[in-house]
Amino acid sequence: MAEKELKVRPIRNGTVIDHIPGGQALNVLKILGISRTTGAGATVSVLMNVDSPKLGKKDIVKVEDRELLSEEVDKIALIAPGATINIVRDFEVAEKYVVDLPDLIVGVVRCQNPNCISNSSEPIRPQMQVREKRPVQLRCMYCDLPLTERIADFLI
Ligand code: CTP
Ligand code: ZN
Repeated sequence: MAEKELKVRPIRNGTVIDHIPGGQALNVLKILGISRTTGAGATVSVLMNVDSPKLGKKDIVKVEDRELLSEEVDKIALIAPGATINIVRDFEVAEKYVVDLPDLIVGVVRCQNPNCISNSSEPIRPQMQVREKRPVQLRCMYCDLPLTERIADFLI
């Protein structure tokens, strides 16, 4: 129990992204724009490969003093379906919800087809239809090409 408390030290204010499938924490950091170049930004804790009854192994990301934008939550839903967003205020979980994907994602993921009009110099925002949520299956609204793997590589 003491060890468990150490691993999950509570935060005062901020967002805890819990139940991230094991191995996806670094992609979540990328989505949040957290990298070594962000320097003196928010305090961020990353737990990787925590034992989880539901997921086997899960990752957890805690970002202090920050609440997420809806666009960031959509991106997290793409690579970590089932993740829980916990908004912590004054040490209490004030809000908790499971990420969910809209039926259409605009301007978040680019098409993997280099010849797709959404990848041309035209001012077109890529649009992806969400065909399946678990596991995520997308389809480009312009060229119909499916996108089902390595979605993190195509995030804008
Ligand atoms: N948490 C935190 N700091 C706080 C409160 C909670 O870091 N002040 C973290 C917990 O460690 C946990 C997550 O936020 O990873 C959700 O907290 P809580 O709802 O208390 O935990 P559970 O009931 O286990 O969550 P769930 O039912 O979603 O699994
Ligand atoms: Zn396309």
